[in-house]
Amino acid sequence: MKNSKTIIIVPGYGMAVAQAQHALREMGDLLKAAGAQVRYAIHPVAGRMPGHMNVLLAEANVPYDEVLELDEINRDFSETDVAFVIGANDVTNPAAKTDKTSAIYGMPILDVENAGQVFFVKRGMASGYAGVQNELFFRDNTLMLFGDAKSL
Ligand code: TAP
Repeated sequence: MKNSKTIIIVPGYGMAVAQAQHALREMGDLLKAAGAQVRYAIHPVAGRMPGHMNVLLAEANVPYDEVLELDEINRDFSETDVAFVIGANDVTNPAAKTDKTSAIYGMPILDVENAGQVFFVKRGMASGYAGVQNELFFRDNTLMLFGDAKSL
């Protein structure tokens, strides 16, 4: 992460459960101090209620201009060194684009797989709210970091 110039953080339900927003903002501050551009990508249904992620990031004093909605930032993943996905799952799942039999088919998703490297921070390989396996976990440009979002 310290060697990255551009980082997009994707928070989800697990960040909220772990109350990791303050630790996350501190990580962002360290990365910015090291010279990286750090932004946050918010999916419209990330978490469990509308605006869930925005409220938590605001509580942690993440600057508003670093927090971007899906339509504003989705194209930028392909130009980004690292997508840091913390406690999010369904909102990144490409099955929504390709698998007509999937429960999430048709939902817009954050195209994290287009980043140079994808980190998923979660406790294990469990699926998210929709109960759908996420094949991104098995891709070559993905690293899985297992643990509670705050303690990691
Ligand atoms: P999810 O797809 O539910 O994934 C959250 C992930 O967080 C889980 O896979 C879980 O994996 C991980 N997690 C749980 N506790 C954690 C912890 N303490 N530390 C680290 N990771 C933890 O979340 P999402 O990507 O935010 O998507 C939201 C989902 O909820 C969508 O399917 C959406 O449709 C649905 N939903 C949203 C809303 C609104 S309005 N936002 C309302 C109802 C339903 P592990 O167990 O492996 O850690």
